[in-house]
Amino acid sequence: EELGIVAVGFSGGQCKPGVDAAPSALIESGLLTQLREELGYKLHGDDTVHLYTDLVPASDPPFRNMKNPRAVSLVTKRIAEQTYAHAKEGRLVLTLGGDHSIAIGTIGGTAKAIRERLGREMAVIWVDAHADINTPETSGSGNIHGMPVSFLTGLAREENEEFFGWLKEDNLISVKKLVYIGLRDVDAGEKRILREHGIKAFSMFDIDRHGIGRVMEMALGHIGNDTPIHLSFDVDALDPMWAPSTGTPVRGGLTLREGDYICECVHETGSLVAVDLVEVNPSLASPNDIGAHETVRAGCSIVRCALGESLL
Ligand code: ARG
Ligand code: MN
Ligand code: MN
Ligand code: MN
Repeated sequence: EELGIVAVGFSGGQCKPGVDAAPSALIESGLLTQLREELGYKLHGDDTVHLYTDLVPASDPPFRNMKNPRAVSLVTKRIAEQTYAHAKEGRLVLTLGGDHSIAIGTIGGTAKAIRERLGREMAVIWVDAHADINTPETSGSGNIHGMPVSFLTGLAREENEEFFGWLKEDNLISVKKLVYIGLRDVDAGEKRILREHGIKAFSMFDIDRHGIGRVMEMALGHIGNDTPIHLSFDVDALDPMWAPSTGTPVRGGLTLREGDYICECVHETGSLVAVDLVEVNPSLASPNDIGAHETVRAGCSIVRCALGESLL
């Protein structure tokens, strides 16, 4: 099978440096070799980590409360072109982030390609401790990695090309085809948005109550058979015990096996069209770098499971 790789060394959607080093760390730990040699994928796009430094403007003051808005808009626009090109060719797309703002590009690009190629509206499974559905106005931090879903669903809109105005109807997804798994740190304004729009969300409470097996049945049932799926996996969905090296860790998260299981189930549908792995930050490791190594290892496991690695 054909796999398009987009390695995104970008950290402008939040304030902590280091998340831009994740793609190199994942690749150096052997991820792409494993996908090629153990899972038998034909890889397209090179091992080049894109830093997009040419796109980052010298001056980028806040706009509508968003930090680095021009840089994030320009970089995600470019990422959308990259994922679009792969998905248009019928390739499964793997994006290695980068902070979660890059999903504006990854999902924006694949949603458009899937519409054109299959005439279908794509579903998104967003695995995360956070909902990342703040609008610029509800966000307390101004960090765009907390806002991608609001732009992708059209809940946040901006006409100006410079500030995500390049996102057109084709790039957007429906709130009805969005499912969250793993939530446990959702801002008050975000809770209101989820409720108001009836967005399907399975929090850690639901996973404790029903077990991950039943939650996946319900999540995939909501999406419906035969719907193309984009899986956006924020490594902070995992408990910090498994993935400590991330910018906004939240205790009480998924075990590594629960994370892998989510990915195995999504793979099993046969409907996966794209995967993002984001928010691995190898520089946030204390007191030593074991945490970084473990987080990279967990990230590799997540990706391999989504791409079809099985235990037997
Ligand atoms: N809700 C918080 C915010 O909007 C945290 C978002 C964390 N997002 C992430 N992709 N790790 O700033
Ligand atoms: Mn490339
Ligand atoms: Mn998160
Ligand atoms: Mn996230």
